[in-house]
Amino acid sequence: MGHESARPPAQEAKSTLKNQAMNRLTQPFDVLGDDRVRRVLRRLHEEAARQTPRLLLHYLPKLPALLLGRPIRFRSSDISGFYADKFIALEPAQAAFCYLAARALRAKTIVEFGTSFGVSTIWLAAAVRDGGGGKVIGTEIVPDKVARARDHVEEAGLSQWVEIRQGDALVTLRDLDGDVDLLLNDGFPELALDVVKLVAPRMRAGAAVITDNVGTFKANYTDYMTHMTSPESGFQTAVVPFKSGTAFSVRSTGISIQDLE
Ligand SMILES: C[S@@+](CC[C@H](N)C(=O)[O-])C[C@H]1O[C@@H](n2cnc3c(N)ncnc32)[C@H](O)[C@@H]1O
Repeated sequence: MGHESARPPAQEAKSTLKNQAMNRLTQPFDVLGDDRVRRVLRRLHEEAARQTPRLLLHYLPKLPALLLGRPIRFRSSDISGFYADKFIALEPAQAAFCYLAARALRAKTIVEFGTSFGVSTIWLAAAVRDGGGGKVIGTEIVPDKVARARDHVEEAGLSQWVEIRQGDALVTLRDLDGDVDLLLNDGFPELALDVVKLVAPRMRAGAAVITDNVGTFKANYTDYMTHMTSPESGFQTAVVPFKSGTAFSVRSTGISIQDLE
């Protein structure tokens, strides 16, 4: 006779649903083969998630503009004010996607616009290390965030693969050595296009750009998406339905990876 569950069917179904939900939450971290990194990232993602209610309250007055497809303003005073203690980090599933994209690209040089507290930096640095080495060049304008990001990267044991440049991305990313395999374009929308234009000449054919929030802040990203979907940009772009829309672009022009090897 087969095994019969001691629990009534309704309770069994509820438990299955709960397990499925738990799996969805834990799965992204399973791509990481390193307990130390996983532990730090879980804690930081939990801290980030606790800030969600405050972020939602902040965006509430902007909801009509967002629903009407109008751009909202990101003031520099907000960067050093309201956002100064906010993670506004990628979600675990998005971050795992970035990790896997970096591994698939065999990324040796990754540039990150918008390091914040270092959550995405840690995922990307783990990918660089697990893929055989290289560097993540992060940049962040808020000094306190830079200090905390460095601490978090250190705690995850990944400092060797990370350089965080403090300051305005349009200045800190002017000077890039070597060829860039992946750009995580996750600062505020106003600079997304300028940053891509700055970094693109350093990107090889097949290199990728990942840009978050192109759905939520659709009107802020109109110029960016118009550029990245036009053949003249040298990129091919699709939007992956993570959270609010994450643009994934692949550079179709530039030096091929074979020429680099
Ligand atoms: C969405 S958060 C980045 C989140 C991070 N990628 C993560 O997943 O953990 C954007 C960050 O960009 C930073 N930022 C905004 N404008 C900047 C600029 N001009 N140069 C450098 N960093 C900037 C903000 O201070 C903020 O911390």
